[in-house]
Amino acid sequence: MADVRVFGTALDAASATADEIAAAVKAKPDLVLGVATGATVVPVYRRLVAAHHAGLSFAGVRCFSLDEYVGLPAMHGSSYRAEMRAQFYNPVGLPPSQCFAPDGMADDPLAEAARYEAAIARAGGVDLQLLGIGVNGHIGFNEPPADFNQGVHVTDLASTTLVANRRFFQPSEMQPTRAITMGVRTILSARKLLLIATGLGKRDAIAAALRGPVSPACPASSLQMHSNALVILDADAASGL
Ligand code: F6R
Repeated sequence: MADVRVFGTALDAASATADEIAAAVKAKPDLVLGVATGATVVPVYRRLVAAHHAGLSFAGVRCFSLDEYVGLPAMHGSSYRAEMRAQFYNPVGLPPSQCFAPDGMADDPLAEAARYEAAIARAGGVDLQLLGIGVNGHIGFNEPPADFNQGVHVTDLASTTLVANRRFFQPSEMQPTRAITMGVRTILSARKLLLIATGLGKRDAIAAALRGPVSPACPASSLQMHSNALVILDADAASGL
């Protein structure tokens, strides 16, 4: 059962999440950190950047992105690689050689998924995996119904996810409909999971993930099978528990 901590505001939840990551980096300076993107984690990275300016070193940390859109070049502002660079890697001085992500422009996305899974294994696996949650209960881009036995794979995005993420693209732009994502099996193989959810929009997904049955219908319910999962919520996201 996950350890669940509830904070009054989204900012307090983000600060607590950043504090967990900072403590993990202090305890293990060569931490392998799994990173998530999306609106929820923006204040988490902001707080980690502040911790860096106050003296926290990320020099030995290696980061692995959960997922990336297929068909978006790394330079595209809405690619997850670009987001991670802008919000976290550049401000804390992490060089590209320590920042890993699936290549959404690979000629063969299936081969790229296999390459990425092998890169995670070569790094010794993920020590701490940061996660957000979709309104439909997805983690990474494991959309319901999720196959809990999948490693890194190519997936079609759910219509709810496409609608939720439309805001990150220009009206005239083609929005990617596929992604390469760590699978539930990959995510659960991290030594510790740290999921943050904030806002009323996540209330039902959180209730299903933490209080519902472990089921492919709610991919985040797979966290119940992990022995070291911490869930950090604001009061709104926790209001269905
Ligand atoms: C992003 C990711 C997704 C997001 C989720 C929540 O790397 O893996 O699972 O964490 O869609 O996104 P926000 O925070 O934008 O609601």
